[in-house]
Amino acid sequence: MVCGIIGITTEEGFTQEPLGKLIKDALKRLEYRGYDSVGLAVITEEGLLKIRKSKGMIDAVSQRLGFDSISGFNGIGHTRWATHGKPSDENAHPHTDCLGRVAVVHNGIIENYKKLKEFLIGEGHRFASDTDTEVIPHLVESFKKRGLSTYEAFKKTIELLEGAYALAMIDLEDPGKIFFAKKMSPLIIGLGNKGNFVASDVVAFLNHTRRVIVLVDGEAGYITPREVVVERMVREGGSVRWLPVDVERRVRVVEWSPEMALKEGYDFFMLKEIHEQPYALASTLSAANESVSDVARVLAKSERVLLLGAGTSYHATLITALLFRKYANLWAEALISSESRWWLNALSQGDVVIGVSQSGETIDTLRGIREAKERGALTIAVTNVVESAIAREADMAIYIRAGPEIGVAATKTFTSQVALLSYLAIKTGELRSVLKPSVAANIYNALRETPEIVARTLKESERLASLLADKMSFKNNAYYLGRGLGLPVAMEGALKMKEIAYVHAEAYPAGESKHGPIALVEEGFPVVFVILSKEEEELIKSNIEEMKARGAYAILVSPNNAEEALSLADFSFVMPALHEVASATSYVVPLQLLAYYTAVKKGLDPDKPRNLAKTVTVF
Ligand code: G6P
Repeated sequence: MVCGIIGITTEEGFTQEPLGKLIKDALKRLEYRGYDSVGLAVITEEGLLKIRKSKGMIDAVSQRLGFDSISGFNGIGHTRWATHGKPSDENAHPHTDCLGRVAVVHNGIIENYKKLKEFLIGEGHRFASDTDTEVIPHLVESFKKRGLSTYEAFKKTIELLEGAYALAMIDLEDPGKIFFAKKMSPLIIGLGNKGNFVASDVVAFLNHTRRVIVLVDGEAGYITPREVVVERMVREGGSVRWLPVDVERRVRVVEWSPEMALKEGYDFFMLKEIHEQPYALASTLSAANESVSDVARVLAKSERVLLLGAGTSYHATLITALLFRKYANLWAEALISSESRWWLNALSQGDVVIGVSQSGETIDTLRGIREAKERGALTIAVTNVVESAIAREADMAIYIRAGPEIGVAATKTFTSQVALLSYLAIKTGELRSVLKPSVAANIYNALRETPEIVARTLKESERLASLLADKMSFKNNAYYLGRGLGLPVAMEGALKMKEIAYVHAEAYPAGESKHGPIALVEEGFPVVFVILSKEEEELIKSNIEEMKARGAYAILVSPNNAEEALSLADFSFVMPALHEVASATSYVVPLQLLAYYTAVKKGLDPDKPRNLAKTVTVF
């Protein structure tokens, strides 16, 4: 997800076409990942390193900078999706060292880049961009100056990096090789005839070869046109060892069609994106402390916060408003953005309005932010897209780092929004001295475990969700009930079910369900109960009993320590017991899977639900 990487190293007779054109064609096939800038670096027969890069779309940039006519034998290319530093020519990849000999493209986030950058500036290195990536070529340069070979310098650099990365690097002084490293971002080697490839996704080189080696986390090495060298980094105590990896046995032949390759083997983008949640959460949370700090300082001094959102983003605002109130003693209210005009008159200077939108373009949310600004409120955008309309118009912006979402129904952007906004609420509570630092630290730690929890949940609940979907696909109605933080999670589960499986799913506060909704319940009526913590169990138990007494089929998403509630369930997704803030982030996952499989069992296309659009730019 996020940025796209391609590297191609060739020998005489590989093709007749200039390498710049081959790189451009590969980048075109990575276009689906979403990007704002594009660039390449090519080593020419004359011994030059040519770099061309710019903000903009591939076709336009390539035409302007003449990608098609750049010839050479070894090169790398990149589509950038901004995270650190706005989309601009300077921030586009590749990035180089001071001497312009080493060029690097990167996907991911180097968490400790600030420290590394300070050190490098101290050594006299000059930086040309705001990116985290640029520390890499400078570190390699720095190690080379101490007498190391390019490969040794590259490995030493990798040892210093914290965070997520897929990297490709070329060096004029070791010109036949493409160096690579992978941790938490995909990277795949392609084995061609008279040339080898490295890319974020097989689709980039499927027209040249189907023979691939999928790299795993902690691996680094290099390719030449004829060889592949891979080593694995092992940390033991304070020291690092590199062990050789035998990749011969790992060569696979990909049978995917280009269409399937785009989806990385998943049947639909939605399922791929559901499975990308551990990565999206990890990247969002790894940058959270830094990204929320300014906004948390502002919120710590404010008295009222309004949160605006539409659809899934609205559900994220509901969770956040509860957290601001409970953990930061801050008056906060969540509003559906198209309804916000009924509130805006009552705003005054000193109020804060937060617009939450994955696309950053939803017109109702944009208008709410605009109008709030006109009334003197301070406005903040929370979005997945750097420089999107809402991000540009708001006074401040913070970003989730979920990567582009293609499926119409939001999945990974929701869990990332909840994680980042939870972090923000807890930080605000800490700054307002409502939470002791040790209490806040426990919650941050619980949040940091969510990528792992979600990965495990995906493994454990996929088969169950598919099983339950057999039943759900024959139902026309369902209730989704929850209390407190569990209610917005239930609402999101119900929305997914409506959006893609066309089951009329209605969410309700569990305690309120006996005041009306229960009238519809009869034998076999599915009722999903979302329980986020043991504390909620006692209250919700009676609601389960009420529904079951009318014949409801009770489905639970519940922590494993809510034994009594679980004993009442007809079907359950048993989740690990977590701090409620972490459950609010992760317990939606089985419900996403349930909606997905129900849609698939009904023969529907979950990526393109009828009547819905990914981004709604009309009122
Ligand atoms: C559309 C999409 C939803 C999304 C909503 C808000 O209705 O179909 O999935 O939640 O817009 O989008 P935003 O980009 O503002 O989060």
